[in-house]
Amino acid sequence: MRDFAAELADTPCWNREAEHNRVQRGVPDVDIALQNRAELLLLCQWIEAKRIRSYLEIGVWTGRLLSTLHRLFRFDRVAACDLGWAEDRGLSISLPPECAFLRGDSLGPEYQTWRSALGHVDLVLIDGDHRYEAVRRDFEANRGHPHRFLAFHDVATTHPGDAGVRRLWQELPGPHKLELVRPLPVSRWRMGIGIWSATEDPRVVAP
Ligand SMILES: C[S@@+](CC[C@H](N)C(=O)[O-])C[C@H]1O[C@@H](n2cnc3c(N)ncnc32)[C@H](O)[C@@H]1O
Repeated sequence: MRDFAAELADTPCWNREAEHNRVQRGVPDVDIALQNRAELLLLCQWIEAKRIRSYLEIGVWTGRLLSTLHRLFRFDRVAACDLGWAEDRGLSISLPPECAFLRGDSLGPEYQTWRSALGHVDLVLIDGDHRYEAVRRDFEANRGHPHRFLAFHDVATTHPGDAGVRRLWQELPGPHKLELVRPLPVSRWRMGIGIWSATEDPRVVAP
């Protein structure tokens, strides 16, 4: 059993500075993985248990989450799509050289062409535009491409700006739904990772 807590020790996650910036300006404005460390730990254990070998992240911010996951799992294929909000805020996006990167709109026609060319992806994390119609469109677009699991960040959010994700998550049909949700002491809001599949049980069954 890998010690993911130790392997994630150097990865900055949601912290007081991000919380302060989001409260003051509406955006975190820091180069961190915009994740609850405890939930990220659970996600790593899940990726290991499910033998996830390919990963696509829609909405990478500065790329910290994707880079961390790829460092830990050395995926056979890794890909990202992002509009570049971090760069608009004066931060840099840093991705592994082997990462296929579409700098553009996941809701646009270019994404469909790019995603088709990518082929099968074990895990797609949808973490881009959090408005309800947008996250629904991301879901509908990506369920049509070959994958095993579609995941969503902020399924348990209590932040009004992210309520669209929570609503979509609650509407998604079961039974293959798994929630990774842990308290986030440095925040007034919750996050939560939801993992969905049309066919495969996302739960990890003990051997
Ligand atoms: C919450 S951040 C992603 C956080 C990242 N997944 C992490 O865990 O650190 C949202 C990102 O989505 C991107 N984004 C928003 N709308 C998008 C769209 N329609 N297409 C592609 N990227 C989008 C923004 O540029 C931003 O970097």
